[in-house]
Parts: sequence; C-alpha cells; structure tokens
Amino acid sequence: NQKEATKDDKLLSICKLLEEHITYYNWVGFYFKNGDKNELKLGPYVGDPTDHVIIPFGKGICGQVAVSNENFVVADVAAQDNYIACSITVKAEIVIPIFVNGENIGQIDIDSNTPDPFTEEDERFLEFVCAQVATLL
Ligand code: SME
Repeated sequence: NQKEATKDDKLLSICKLLEEHITYYNWVGFYFKNGDKNELKLGPYVGDPTDHVIIPFGKGICGQVAVSNENFVVADVAAQDNYIACSITVKAEIVIPIFVNGENIGQIDIDSNTPDPFTEEDERFLEFVCAQVATLL
C-alpha cells in the first residue's frame, strides 16, 4: 500500500545518505522481524544484492542482535564463527537494534570493506538514526 511504499522510500533514502557520506559504510540496510515468525526479513538497502533475505533468529550477527537486543560491533568478521558472509569484500560489520515502545522490532546493518572502522561515535550516531527510524515506522 501507499503508506508502506512511503516508509520504504524514507528508509532507502537513509541507506543512501549513510552509504554516500560515510566512506567506510559500504553496505547499509534494514532487517525487520517478519510478522510473528522467528526470523528477520530484509528491508530497504544499498549495496551489493544479498542472498540473505530471511535470517532466522540467532543466526549470524543480525540474528544474534534479534535475540540479544544489544549493539553488535564486529571489528573482524573473519574472527566470528556465527557469521553469515554476504560478500568476500566485507571486513567488519555493525548492527544496531531498533526499538519501538521498548520492543526490538528490527535493526540497521552496516558492512564495511575497511578493517576495524567502527567507533563508539558510530554506535551513538546509529542509535540516534535508529531512534529517528522508530518514529516513522
Ligand atoms: N553478515 C550478516 C548477514 C547480513 S549481510 O551482512 C547483508 C550476519 O552475519 O548476520
């Protein structure tokens, strides 16, 4: 419907802005909880297409954040055993949950081709972005 389309346009614009303006943000996308299933579903994103449209809770970095409700900053993806590779160029990843009324409803997921690029500044900034996103869902 129209409202969903507008919401997705806004989310895609956010992905584009982040990917264009922050050099070490190379893939930027949203995953959302898929109805009442125990899985995440890919939302708007910018970057290489991924096969991982559905991610079960607990699987990969994204699936772990779906159950932990906490930020997950991965300095070196090669050092993670519960990791789902989307592209061989990716060196690092950050996932920040999105809360609506205290409930973890999804997340922003960012991959970087630069090793260990994410700082606490990225976490604070992306928490702010997620809080803004929560208001438009
Ligand atoms: N690397 C993620 C999967 C999603 S892709 O990065 C787009 C993970 O381990 O959950």
